[in-house]
Amino acid sequence: MSKICVLGSLNIDMSTSVDYFPHVGETIRLNSFDIFMGGKGANQAVALGKLSADIMMLGKLGDQFYGPEYMNILKENGVDNSCVEIVPNEYPGIAFITVNKDKNNVIYIHPGTNYMVDTAYVDKYWDKISQCDIILHQYEIPIKTNIYLMKKMHKAGKTVILDPAPYLNVADDTYALCDYVTPNEVELSQITGMPVDNHDQFIAAAKALLKKGCGAVIAKAGKRGAYLITPDTTEFVPSYKVNAVDPTAAGDSFNAGFAYALSQGKSPIQAIKFANAVGGLSTTAMGAQNAMPTLKQVEDFLKTAEINDVY
Ligand code: RIB
Repeated sequence: MSKICVLGSLNIDMSTSVDYFPHVGETIRLNSFDIFMGGKGANQAVALGKLSADIMMLGKLGDQFYGPEYMNILKENGVDNSCVEIVPNEYPGIAFITVNKDKNNVIYIHPGTNYMVDTAYVDKYWDKISQCDIILHQYEIPIKTNIYLMKKMHKAGKTVILDPAPYLNVADDTYALCDYVTPNEVELSQITGMPVDNHDQFIAAAKALLKKGCGAVIAKAGKRGAYLITPDTTEFVPSYKVNAVDPTAAGDSFNAGFAYALSQGKSPIQAIKFANAVGGLSTTAMGAQNAMPTLKQVEDFLKTAEINDVY
């Protein structure tokens, strides 16, 4: 089995649900409030841990507000936390998440110690990082650190997967360091400056991103499924029917499922099918990491799963 690592954020999610998003100046009552572990990076790592991947997390926590507890949660979920540092007297990353009745969410982020993950941190753990075969990146730590490690891993011939979330305007040559870039619809439009309102526009935007130099684009089309776009192929893989409650971290779980399947020697198309199952199942309870499935749950689900026909 290939070894995987995630460089990225660890957040404490203050997760709430409401009937609707308030208007400017309006005060509304929450229907629920919970504190969950989250952060796009750690969500990917925990999803991989639950799938029984050989997974190591790279990032920083503060010692305030559930930071130390998060260390245990990583471990309990099968994630190697030996490179995760706890910074004294600091808050970890904190996210304020609201989900409305339509199962859409809005997220505000306080970066906290995620923004202390610098290139010196990468150098400190390079010996361990360089033993990994696949690395996952997102944009909730400093971009300078992401690019620094992407260059090193790309040069070492490793598989580099970039989830360009939340959107950041980066130099085009960043994409050339990546084997796979996995935007959702919004990020695809933001990266390319192109509309994605219909099928043709979506494909045109994904092809424009591919031209920036990455190996392949895995374009996540929300509830519908995902596309694989390479120089030779454009293929759509539909999602599965699930009873969605909270979409938070569906994209993170998708990326984890994709990396896991690649680490097992699956093709990109097979990996997207598996990722669709992991992403879909992760939406079936409130909270980012709550409903992330185990390998057995994914395998059982795939035996009877029905294709979603929302396309
Ligand atoms: O992708 C979902 C994640 O985004 C949440 O867990 C939150 O922490 C933010 O990083």
